Amino acid sequence: MDLALNNHNNWWKKSVIYQIYPRSFCDTNGDGIGDIPGIISKLDYIQTLGVDAVWISPMYASPQDDNGYDISDYQDIDPTFGTMDDMRVLLKEANNRGIKIIMDMVLNHTSDEHAWFLEAKQSRDNPKHDWYVWRDGEPGTPPNEMCSVFGGSAWEWVEECQQYYLHQFSVKQPDLNWDNPEVREALYDMLQWWVDQGAGGFRLDVIDQIAKEPDRMVTAEGTMLHTYVKEMSERVFRGTDLVTVGEAWSATPETARKWSNPDGSELSMVFQFEHIVLDQLPGQPKWDVGSLKLTDLKRVFGKWQHELNGSGWNSLFWNNHDVPRIVSRWGDDGVYREQSAKMFATVLYGLQGTPYLYQGEELGMTNTRYAIDEYRDIETVNLIAERRAAGYSDESILASIYAKGRDNGRTPMQWDASCNAGFTSGEPWLKVNPNYAQINAAEQLERADSVLNHYRRLIALRKREQVILDGSYEDILFDREDVYAYRRVSEDAVLTVAANFTGNEVEFPAEVLENAGMLELGNYADSPINGTLRPFEARLYLKKN
Ligand code: GLC
Ligand code: CA
Repeated sequence: MDLALNNHNNWWKKSVIYQIYPRSFCDTNGDGIGDIPGIISKLDYIQTLGVDAVWISPMYASPQDDNGYDISDYQDIDPTFGTMDDMRVLLKEANNRGIKIIMDMVLNHTSDEHAWFLEAKQSRDNPKHDWYVWRDGEPGTPPNEMCSVFGGSAWEWVEECQQYYLHQFSVKQPDLNWDNPEVREALYDMLQWWVDQGAGGFRLDVIDQIAKEPDRMVTAEGTMLHTYVKEMSERVFRGTDLVTVGEAWSATPETARKWSNPDGSELSMVFQFEHIVLDQLPGQPKWDVGSLKLTDLKRVFGKWQHELNGSGWNSLFWNNHDVPRIVSRWGDDGVYREQSAKMFATVLYGLQGTPYLYQGEELGMTNTRYAIDEYRDIETVNLIAERRAAGYSDESILASIYAKGRDNGRTPMQWDASCNAGFTSGEPWLKVNPNYAQINAAEQLERADSVLNHYRRLIALRKREQVILDGSYEDILFDREDVYAYRRVSEDAVLTVAANFTGNEVEFPAEVLENAGMLELGNYADSPINGTLRPFEARLYLKKN
């Protein structure tokens, strides 16, 4: 197969995908929670950015234990967000603007309030019992030591069945049993139903965990995993122009080549986190924070660029609803906030893959510091209880939450400088970041050198320049811990990026200019200084042969 040709045929290889966390996007009825009419009202804004598709975190019927990642009916919309009719209008309105809607599908587990689980837990003989993962045991003595991602045992006792069920996430998120063919059929039918409603693709939540093998304590990459994914693809995705992206924390370049095999046998692309967990201390929970070593980031990006080129496809991202804001994490959310936000964008958007732009990232939105009782995320709330019980001080718990808590990325979208950032006329479900008077979309739309307009330029550049799609990748001066520089080379163009990852002036590596051509884009308004990169300065050069 001609891979170059393939690169051109897949619309999602040239696209940027915008992620909406609907709770925090735009509220139209004053209940403090974002909703579908709110998303519809902002479609013109989204179109202005130049993105081709929008991934929306789950809005299905749900008790909202994990903000919608606990689904009680896959084929209905939760009243929190609107109705199925609202959803149909959204699909139509997005389609009118050439924007595809990517549904976030949670296939590893359902809510414990899903009709399937309500039946399954009635008795061992119930026809739906085997749709979930059960093991015998004694009350108080779970089958093994497996832990839930959100704390505590991964097993929950059910009196009626005298058995434990598995939940890799919260106790209200029982794991589906993918080994049961009826479960798989029901999920494929449901996916097809969404395709029929006009969905443009799927983001598949923790898809690497569906084929778990709890007796061997295996969560990701179980023996049957890729067999099931191939089956799903064959049944629903193959031969369509749907985009499918698999969230896979366990992915390595080797498994990613299966996930995103260009023959289309599994998914379009993988969404992996190797670069984003680089400040995690080895073997420690994410809450114990380390610092980033730039050469580690280069090594990881370089590895993925080389190992998937021509044989797979990666997602490019700094932010989503599960991770802290990048400017606060590895940049500067003070004096150099705008420069560092643009620097991160420039570095990422020159790479091969499909970029994901998470709501507010285009404004350079930052982390927050709230009082301990103001956090809403189940993971954070559980952490507070667990660590208090283990004797940690509130101060040390808060230090972890400030650095890594998921609510950092979930504060309401900052639309303008009016009350509650224009997000809601009511009481927001999670406090608005107090910096909204300075950081908001209305101000940035108006200002040519804003972070938002920098993103627009980068998105347009990706559409225009073929070398970003299929050029090779090489590092320049790999060993420098302050500057990240790389080159993308194709037959007819060279794209060169150089970025200062520090808040100081540093020496500009002369090697960058070899074969670099013209300065196409920078993040400082004034012209570059010879031999120097200013704090968080990024430059992008382009040469056409
Ligand atoms: C994914 C989601 C996360 C959710 C978890 C369980 O990692 O991105 O928000 O809590 O899966 O569904
Ligand atoms: Ca609302």
